[in-house]
Amino acid sequence: ALDISSLYRDAGFFTYDPGFMATASCHSAITFIDGEKGVLLYRGYPIDQLATKASFLEVAYLLVYGELPSEEALNHFEHLITSHTMLNENLKRFLSGFHYDAHPMAILCGVVGSLSAFYHESIDVNDPRYREVSAHRLIAKMPTIAAAAYKHFVGEPIMYPRNDLRYGANFLHMMFATPCEDYEPGLLAEKALNLLFILHADHEQNASTSTVRLAGSSGANPFACIAAGIASLWGPAHGGANEAVLDMLEQIGHVKNVAKYVDKAKDKDDPFRLMGFGHRVYKHYDPRAKIIREVCHQVLEEFPGASDSPLLELAVKLEEIALNDEYFVERKLYPNVDFYSGIIYRALGIPRNMFTVMFAVARTVGWVSHWMEMMSDPANRIGRPRQIYHGQGVRDYVPISKR
Ligand code: ACO
Repeated sequence: ALDISSLYRDAGFFTYDPGFMATASCHSAITFIDGEKGVLLYRGYPIDQLATKASFLEVAYLLVYGELPSEEALNHFEHLITSHTMLNENLKRFLSGFHYDAHPMAILCGVVGSLSAFYHESIDVNDPRYREVSAHRLIAKMPTIAAAAYKHFVGEPIMYPRNDLRYGANFLHMMFATPCEDYEPGLLAEKALNLLFILHADHEQNASTSTVRLAGSSGANPFACIAAGIASLWGPAHGGANEAVLDMLEQIGHVKNVAKYVDKAKDKDDPFRLMGFGHRVYKHYDPRAKIIREVCHQVLEEFPGASDSPLLELAVKLEEIALNDEYFVERKLYPNVDFYSGIIYRALGIPRNMFTVMFAVARTVGWVSHWMEMMSDPANRIGRPRQIYHGQGVRDYVPISKR
């Protein structure tokens, strides 16, 4: 039998980089991160300026088109997005077929993928006009689908979007209004949601965005690509961490237990990790977590959910102990964007199984921006990583009677 090295004789050279620790997969002009200094820029603008001064659709325009919109351009963009917020009635029927207690992320993944079946008549990914209208449809319909997934879960009728409301306020309306009762979101709730959506809108080549790019590199339609991104986001090492943080805080239960759990996270024989801690790129405080931590205090002061402030107290204590612990200091493990976001979502009345869905709604803007950038890049070619094969060498088939 031939051994493996002989199989590789003519394979040429390639790098081995599991987890893509040091491999750039593309050129991009969308988002810049300096993980050592804790810097995050969208199209050159610092994240803290955008988060405190801009609206979510303004940032969406910036990410998709590369420049901040003029007032007129923003009005036009908002009009375009609101004109796509409705779902086809047949899509509602498709959604209602999911099991009553299906996780909203499962519903989101399936329903977004199924949009390919509703907009197939115009699928031509080589046509920039098609790419643009698909991006608008995705940004517009994502909150409607996300809120519908929630309504399905709680067994309430799906609410139609209200196009007189801003993006975040409309989402809260679709989540919490019922045919019997209106829901007027307070200004602070809307502001907090706007901020969280902006902070989650893009983060260069993270796992889900890379998944969208890889799926799209074959020329697949954008709805299928974004469904792939949603699937990748769902994992607890990525967007699923915000849900896992709350589980962890509840498991810890009391500030007196925090030190014990920090020790548990350091124990290599224990699979437990501090959720919401650590980041592949940030070796410094995640700038998004810093902004969210401040808003968290404001939100909890003003909301009925303020009864959850023990969770914030726990989170603050956990951060304090971990940031003074040699293990976390040496490995440069700081709170990431997911550490405090769940506490805010919970105070706004958003249930835990919707946290990652919220992340997906916001990240859709980043996903479509990257997909559009990739599709218009003449250097784009199908993504096709290689592998280091470590299986058997060549051997002969043995008839089943002789095995
Ligand atoms: N708790 C305890 N130890 C940790 C943690 C943590 N949260 N994160 C990393 N470490 C340790 C690892 O055990 C490893 O230690 P070692 O060098 O002794 O083996 C070292 O720090 C480096 O960690 P890696 O897992 O190699 O780092 P990687 O870049 O592959 O993973 C990740 C990054 C997945 C974010 C990781 O830090 C983690 O699992 N964090 C918890 C989950 C989480 O919060 N995810 C959200 C990320 S942000 C986002 O997606 C929006």
